Amino acid sequence: MSYHVPMTPPDLPIEGRDMTGDISLQIAQLEAEAKAALETAPELSVLEERERTAFRSKKSRFAEMYQRLGSMEPEARREAGRALNELRARLEALAEARRAELSSFARAERLAADRLDLTEVLPGRLAGHLHLVTQVREALEDVFVGMGYEIAEGPEVETGWRNFEALNIPEDHPARSPLDTFYVDFGEPWSVLLRPHTSPVQIRLLERGTLPIYAVAPGRTYRKDTPDSTHLPVFHQIEGLVVDRGVTFADLKGTIETFVRAIFGEGTRTRLRPAYFPFTEPSAEFEMSCVICGGEGCRTCAGVGWIELGGCGMVHPAVFEATGVDPETWTGFAFGFGIDRIAIMRHGIADLRVMIENDVRFLNQF
Ligand code: PHE
Repeated sequence: MSYHVPMTPPDLPIEGRDMTGDISLQIAQLEAEAKAALETAPELSVLEERERTAFRSKKSRFAEMYQRLGSMEPEARREAGRALNELRARLEALAEARRAELSSFARAERLAADRLDLTEVLPGRLAGHLHLVTQVREALEDVFVGMGYEIAEGPEVETGWRNFEALNIPEDHPARSPLDTFYVDFGEPWSVLLRPHTSPVQIRLLERGTLPIYAVAPGRTYRKDTPDSTHLPVFHQIEGLVVDRGVTFADLKGTIETFVRAIFGEGTRTRLRPAYFPFTEPSAEFEMSCVICGGEGCRTCAGVGWIELGGCGMVHPAVFEATGVDPETWTGFAFGFGIDRIAIMRHGIADLRVMIENDVRFLNQF
């Protein structure tokens, strides 16, 4: 490798010096220094500063050399001028390269800082969960499945025959009034409705003709009630139907006691009070000891210590007859109660309406 080191010929007087050679030496020095300065600029602002010092500012060495061109011979001036222009182009290219390098560093740094930290512990996806009513329905289903019952289902839109006639509900019963029941405009007038209770599923189970029956049927029910703290026009019931040989009222009482204790705790007591339903005989309302006061008497139980849960009784022979089941051979009991009410009782909720308000602050608690 050989270096060309321009030198001032010693035998020439200063005035006669070859200015081109002289300037090319200075150009080489300036270039070497500027190159080192530009290439090592640690950041963009420093780079700009060094560009100014090296060749951009009017006080730069480069500018100084440029000014000297004016005092040179035309021939030498042309040479030196071209050399300086070429130098400027090279320095500009160097500065540009460094600028690109620095901004790509900066970008890499930004990316590194913004990088997703995959080790971070995130709170997990916000998954929904079953509505409180569904949770209680499933808890009830579990209790009855545990006792050997099947889960049955019937449609929410039901015939008046299954909902009333087959259940021995007379023509003039107030529940048949369109003031109480939603009728659907389908078929014969007043013949199709939104079921106001789950009892028509009893009829569907009996119609099936397979006996014995041990079934519960949960589902949605509809009544023309104005919503208040204890009523909703759309609510849920669960129906129970047992049909077998030699079923007694004691079986009914024991069944009610068993599921109430399973849902509300071992200490809960139940009692039956005489009542009337057209499709059971005898009929009863079943109650449990108040979950709030334990039977002492409080506001929730209106001071009596007992809370009414639902209706029950022995299947009326007329129901067996309507569905072609021999009442001489078969006996049975039925019960029905509101799931929403069980839910508010189980959790000490004061008002049924929270069940349908969809307020996540309420729903998230369960
Ligand atoms: N279907 C009745 C009601 O909604 C409850 C009930 C069911 C009563 C089964 C007796 C037997 O009030």
